[in-house]
Amino acid sequence: MASPFRTIWPTDDRFVEVIDQRFLPHEWVVVKLHTYQEAERAIKDMVVRGAPLIGATAAYGIYLAARECIEKNLNASFMDQAFEDMAKSRPTAVNLFWALNRMRLKLKDSLDLVADAWEEAQAIVEEDIETCRMIGVHGLPLIEAISEKKPGERVNILTHCNAGMLGCVEWGTVTSPIYQAKQKGIDVHVYVDETRPRNQGANLTSYELTRHDIPHTLIVDNAGGHLMQHGMVDLVIVGTDRTTRQGDVANKIGTYLKALAAYDNQIPFYVALPSTTLDLKIKDGLSEIPIEERDQNEVKYVIGKNSSGKIESVLICPETTQAVNHGFDVTPSRLVTGLITERGLCAPNEAAILTMFGDLA
Ligand code: MRU
Repeated sequence: MASPFRTIWPTDDRFVEVIDQRFLPHEWVVVKLHTYQEAERAIKDMVVRGAPLIGATAAYGIYLAARECIEKNLNASFMDQAFEDMAKSRPTAVNLFWALNRMRLKLKDSLDLVADAWEEAQAIVEEDIETCRMIGVHGLPLIEAISEKKPGERVNILTHCNAGMLGCVEWGTVTSPIYQAKQKGIDVHVYVDETRPRNQGANLTSYELTRHDIPHTLIVDNAGGHLMQHGMVDLVIVGTDRTTRQGDVANKIGTYLKALAAYDNQIPFYVALPSTTLDLKIKDGLSEIPIEERDQNEVKYVIGKNSSGKIESVLICPETTQAVNHGFDVTPSRLVTGLITERGLCAPNEAAILTMFGDLA
């Protein structure tokens, strides 16, 4: 039951298309990216989002820059500018910088910029699919073990934001073990945090789980602690935008509070991530991970479908109220039970992370 669709794909004329996720779940809108600037805007404006998909879009953005550079006979500074602009699109997800580095290395001594950029972007996308599948393979035993301990009962998993296929290319990180558990016949149910301010949980995770026929319940962001106190959550799995070498985890704002509640209730709190989301250069997440701050209007307004079926944005506070909009928070590794990666389960500490991923440092 792999995904029936991908989130980014090449067109016959070798441009790139993505789903405009700002319209989901209400409308299916596809956007064609022709230039690196369009790819950069798509990341910045959250047409695409989620760490692995940001990386994949940046890689294709560099391909689009290479194509324009050769077609218009532009000089090398055009490519430098493309790398620079793309790197400014969003600050927290390290996959962006990982993908740009990889493209830069590939193109360094390239004799055929366009073909090489195309090949590398395609490779990044294909690898992400396999990586996410493997995260599912390694995460599945966690769900199986819980299911075996409560025969005939549902396994209840809580997640925050969207770390599904819409944040990746296919499968997703958090959703991969869930989809694979369902394939195995395990009765899984997911509590989906709505994830204000942009509601990625309500809009995107609920949409994906609906498409995959996974029972799920949408909850307000503040409900998780209550559910955990009442034994309604067996396992928390979240995604991440950057995880340090000591296992500190940056993820969508609100993740930290879920980790605290899980810790207080002795509920396992796992983070599903591809190794491309590890930042082995940094150790202390709180001081070293750049946290994106977005427009306050994302907090002041809520977007939804009105009773006439039209998508609209409504103000939920006095016009003059000031809001602050930090996109991510950092969960210290002491609150994390484990990391689910494509190479296996990893303890959230420096020794374990470097043993498993030291070759990537
Ligand atoms: O602001 P977003 O929607 O890009 O934030 C996404 C998340 O926080 C995800 O959990 C993370 O990128 C992992 S996606 C597999």
